[in-house]
Amino acid sequence: MRNKIVAGNWKMNKTYKETKVLVKDLMKQVKGVKLTDTRVIIAPPFTNLQKASKMTKDCKIEVAAQNMHQAESGAYTGEISADMLKSIHVETVILGHSERREYFGETNELLAKKVDTALAHGMEVIYCFGEVLEDRKSGNHFKVVEEQIKKGLFHLTSDDWKNVILAYEPVWAIGTGETASPEQAQEMHAFVRELVAQRYISDVAEQVSILYGGSVKPGNAKEIFSKEDVDGGLIGGLMILQRSLKRYK
Ligand code: PGA
Repeated sequence: MRNKIVAGNWKMNKTYKETKVLVKDLMKQVKGVKLTDTRVIIAPPFTNLQKASKMTKDCKIEVAAQNMHQAESGAYTGEISADMLKSIHVETVILGHSERREYFGETNELLAKKVDTALAHGMEVIYCFGEVLEDRKSGNHFKVVEEQIKKGLFHLTSDDWKNVILAYEPVWAIGTGETASPEQAQEMHAFVRELVAQRYISDVAEQVSILYGGSVKPGNAKEIFSKEDVDGGLIGGLMILQRSLKRYK
């Protein structure tokens, strides 16, 4: 059975002190929640990863990084490597978030390298993809998503996919308050699962968790998450992450 996942992308928010307060609060909330098949993952900024990882060592919350460099080490000022993340027990990394693609010029080709490095280090990847508004309006959204998935991930082996989580995040819905309808999310998730099934054996497609991200709110989380091919959410609003957890009570 596929894992259900609630993941929080903190983006460039929260100082060290604020992180401690938020993690503490989340830990309290998670304690009261039945999470048999559900994983809770938080992705604070680099400076707060070690603290978050230590604080959550004995609880259901897992910690992920928001990005990582593809090289092993070297002259890449300002960057963070897989080894560095692993040395503080961070085993999961978000790659290909649309903000990284848009503001930092991350291409599908570059992301394929990052994915390879992460997997070679035994890490798990949350691979984000999604179309911009013009693509959706012009009916190009399936084509764009297909390219993001194929170029970023289709060189992997079936075995590699055990450490891949997908996250569909239509760019027009991120932080805009506008959400894809549950039907739009389901349609794209089913499309992506079918793509994976065609390239690999259907087991791979059946096992991969596909999260939805983009203005998930307590008001819409339940309906979106209940769709057949939606296995949880990648949520940017921190308050919303807290409230969404309540849905699992
Ligand atoms: P949002 O962000 O929930 O604020 O729309 C989602 C994301 O960027 O991962």
